Amino acid sequence: MRPDELFDLSAKVAIVTGGAGDIGRVYARALCEVGANVVLADVKAGAVNDAAAALRASGFSATSVTVDVTDAESTKVMAAAAIEAFGGIDILINNAAIMVDLPPFRLSNMPPEEWDRVMGVNVKGPLLCTQAVVPSMTERGGGRIINGLSAGAFMKMGGIYGVSKLALHALTASLASELGPLGINVNAIAPGLIESESGYASLPKDSPVRAELEMSIPGQKSGPPEDLVGTLLLLCSNAGSWINGQSISVDGGWIMRL
Ligand SMILES: NC(=O)c1ccc[n+]([C@@H]2O[C@H](COP(=O)([O-])OP(=O)(O)OC[C@H]3O[C@@H](n4cnc5c(N)ncnc54)[C@H](O)[C@@H]3O)[C@@H](O)[C@H]2O)c1
Repeated sequence: MRPDELFDLSAKVAIVTGGAGDIGRVYARALCEVGANVVLADVKAGAVNDAAAALRASGFSATSVTVDVTDAESTKVMAAAAIEAFGGIDILINNAAIMVDLPPFRLSNMPPEEWDRVMGVNVKGPLLCTQAVVPSMTERGGGRIINGLSAGAFMKMGGIYGVSKLALHALTASLASELGPLGINVNAIAPGLIESESGYASLPKDSPVRAELEMSIPGQKSGPPEDLVGTLLLLCSNAGSWINGQSISVDGGWIMRL
């Protein structure tokens, strides 16, 4: 395959959950730019419709669907909407998560219903979305699933968010083992400090803690969501066809797993 064909996703169909969010919108645009038909899926109906409309206004092939990733029926409706709009599903980006609205409790006094809320979106959600798309991917001879992790997965003080993302790291490897024989590769991207509204919600832009943290990272900076796009396209395209079961940190070297 010629190098310029390696990242071409023409005629592929991709679903991006959390498509109304800061990173989801950037992922959706990037997938459109390399030729994919994109379905933006989010629990925020108005925002996800607006995000898809903005892509169509730029001449891209995009549509939206409202989904609650914690509800199996809702994820089936999401998959059906993608099939109806574009004929099938090749790529699923499990990007929706609770990160901004985390419970204000430590694990040692976490109310069980708050545990369920976070684990429901951050862990069960990717599982249910995967279950919903596997029949179509199988019918088409394979696919790509990319899970949205976080540097927080690999820190001892990650709290409930870190626990949920480490569980998603494990789910990534298990699903990759299970679905590999069907031609479906399952990988994950673990972003570091992101320059976005959502990132600033947990660690404000001008906070000394962010500045100190940045200086402790080999790359010495936060990155915009666009810094994640190269890895996303690698994992979605022919360029990454032999990469499976991997969680790739994209964070300037913050997390190094030896
Ligand atoms: N922004 C960061 O600093 C950062 C860093 C590391 C990892 N991440 C990860 O990147 C991903 C995207 O984060 P973001 O920064 O765009 O956050 P965001 O809050 O802007 O987007 C998350 C989206 O998920 C949606 N969502 C929440 N619950 C849902 C549900 N039940 N069903 C469907 N959609 C639901 C929200 O409506 C929102 O649009 C997340 O997985 C997050 O954990 C973000």
